[in-house]
Amino acid sequence: MKCVRSALFILVSVTVTFAASAQTVRFDSARKLWFLSTRDTSYVLGINEQNEMQHVYWGKRIAAENDFAPAHLASAYGFETREGRTAEEYPAWGGMRYGEPCLKVTFPDGNRDLVLKFDSQKIGSDILEITLKDISYGVFVTLRYRVFTAFDVIEKSVRVDNRTKEPIVVESAQSGVWHLPSGQHYRLSYLHGYWAGETRLAQEPIDPGKKILESRRGNTSGQANPWFAIDAGGAADEEHGKVWFGALGWSGNWKLVIEDTPYDQVRVVGGFNDFDFSYPLKPGESLNTPLFYGGYTELGFGDASRLMHSFEREAILPARSAGHLRPILYNSWEATEFNVDEAGQKALADKAARIGVELFVMDDGWFGQRNDDHAGLGDWYVNPQKFPNGLGPLIQYVKSKGMKFGLWVEPEMVNPNSNLYRKHPDWVINFSGRPRTEGRNQLVLNLARDDVKEYLLATLVKLLRENDIDFLKWDMNRHFSEPGWPAVAPADERKLWVNYVLNLYDIIDQLRAKYPKLEIESCSGGGGRIDLGILKRVEQAWTSDNTDAFDRLTIQDGFTHAYAPKLMMDWVTDVPNMNGRSTPLKFRFLAAMMGSMGIGANLNRWSDEDFALASKMAAYYKTIRATVQEGDLYRLASPHEGELTASQYVSRDGRQSVLFAFLRSQQFLRPAPTISLRGLDPNANYRVISIDDKLIDKADVLSGAYVMNHGLNFNLTGDFDSTSITLERVK
Ligand code: GLA
Repeated sequence: MKCVRSALFILVSVTVTFAASAQTVRFDSARKLWFLSTRDTSYVLGINEQNEMQHVYWGKRIAAENDFAPAHLASAYGFETREGRTAEEYPAWGGMRYGEPCLKVTFPDGNRDLVLKFDSQKIGSDILEITLKDISYGVFVTLRYRVFTAFDVIEKSVRVDNRTKEPIVVESAQSGVWHLPSGQHYRLSYLHGYWAGETRLAQEPIDPGKKILESRRGNTSGQANPWFAIDAGGAADEEHGKVWFGALGWSGNWKLVIEDTPYDQVRVVGGFNDFDFSYPLKPGESLNTPLFYGGYTELGFGDASRLMHSFEREAILPARSAGHLRPILYNSWEATEFNVDEAGQKALADKAARIGVELFVMDDGWFGQRNDDHAGLGDWYVNPQKFPNGLGPLIQYVKSKGMKFGLWVEPEMVNPNSNLYRKHPDWVINFSGRPRTEGRNQLVLNLARDDVKEYLLATLVKLLRENDIDFLKWDMNRHFSEPGWPAVAPADERKLWVNYVLNLYDIIDQLRAKYPKLEIESCSGGGGRIDLGILKRVEQAWTSDNTDAFDRLTIQDGFTHAYAPKLMMDWVTDVPNMNGRSTPLKFRFLAAMMGSMGIGANLNRWSDEDFALASKMAAYYKTIRATVQEGDLYRLASPHEGELTASQYVSRDGRQSVLFAFLRSQQFLRPAPTISLRGLDPNANYRVISIDDKLIDKADVLSGAYVMNHGLNFNLTGDFDSTSITLERVK
């Protein structure tokens, strides 16, 4: 893997004289300090007296850069070195170090000691590269920083270059460390879960020792998501408090180590999971780590997630402008499962169009011998019994109704009962002579193999060339097992963990380059592949196979801590749902409107009243979706606390705001709590438009000061009641 070096780089060799300036990346050669500045934060690192890279500061912007002393080592004593007590910017495993290392290497002569010292640097307008070198071997490690000023986000990654004359083996390669100010009483927030219960928020105190969040499953996985937030004193709330947050952009095995050292240094190390990791580098080869993003705010979790959301919309997602609003989607899965055919899909398309759907997606079952989940994966040709004339007539029909057409695929997988597997049994991930454990009756194709990659790319290109497809739902319905790659030398087999993901990214990148209008949804049995790596390549993510609207309030709340509502796909489906629970159709629609809305119900069973309500709701969503998808989110009442859940969105221009409120169960005739809005102009007046008669404070126009301070009261009663209002700023 080669690093593309930007022509923007200017080698800095002169001392920069100091006065606080707005420059994003600056170097002070006298003090050997670098200052990375975003709009509201500063990140400072330096070279200490041993020529080693040291973290100095990360937090609120400090314009008085002259106040910073040069980096210096902490003091040592018998059982601890100076390095061990110092906040090192990128500690390799060597010397006397016992914390979580960022890099661990074995040399062919048996040496496993790596000690990195400053070698050189390059500075661009928003980029810094610092190259370190081992004290005797030609191993060069380049720390790369990119500053996203407007979002208070800094990106870190590392390239490891083997410039020795022998192969080396990288045993751990982390993207970097985020250091917090020394101290106690920090609190960690993270997202955990499993299939049908993804992105649930957990919070716990950070105590001495380590907390590890990770995936060993081959993809990002729903067990944990590669995102964290840490607040000072465990005291932050949605509006107040110091919050440091970060996320890894990697869709394979990843690891975040939240470590509280014996010296009260709280640090977060993140990158490739070093479990079963081994990446040999021949002379001249290099390894790039995932990108690791970090940010800081003093305005609580609400601001932390708003920064992430705008960062994702404007710097991560492929469609980066507000013009790219997500369409209302219909998906056939829960209606038909595998029983798809032309007539049935056309009937659903008719009904979806009646509601106002803009993108019609045919899910699983259209290809090969895919009549259930035992066969067909791998055979990406149209099933001739179900579609005797191919997909063309259905696609034309969908388009004649004014909708775009989308299709479900699961390219990385193969059923043993498929032509592809019968032809290429060696293409799956496996250990020779060992069982091939099936998950959902399927095996994982080894995308690390270039022949598999080329085959999949060609297969998908053929599908897109022959059919007018606007959107792919890209699924992945199992995790890795027996992660062997018998075709390569044993020493190279574990490269699979990394190369699989790189080839997956490459396939998607090539498809997107060839079909620039193609849009993609990332799905892994629900929210199993949501991270900032895949999100550079897809428009949206399937949040969870759990479409129970009440459960979704919790899943979606967690999701929005890390990811923008725009990329959160939410469907309205039928009841009783997953937990045997029934919620009213209105509740289901309003819950689905809190992100990118879709419908996944069996429309063949809907009554005229259902269609009437659905059309009204779809029309309503179209009037507010720009605000939901591109605006600022305020989580007003959490589903974790109390009976009421409420979220508010404010458009970027401040002209519109939307409120959604949900009551789980009323008890003891208790009135629903007052909801105080946020993010509005106290001096402006807003026209209040309600979708129903729930608003008690009836008035056509109210001031921002009133709705934010006095708040609004709603007549929410019984079980699973819900409402929504919009506020339009009066000129
Ligand atoms: C996964 C997805 C579902 C659906 C099925 C089809 O479970 O998450 O939405 O596409 O696969 O088999």
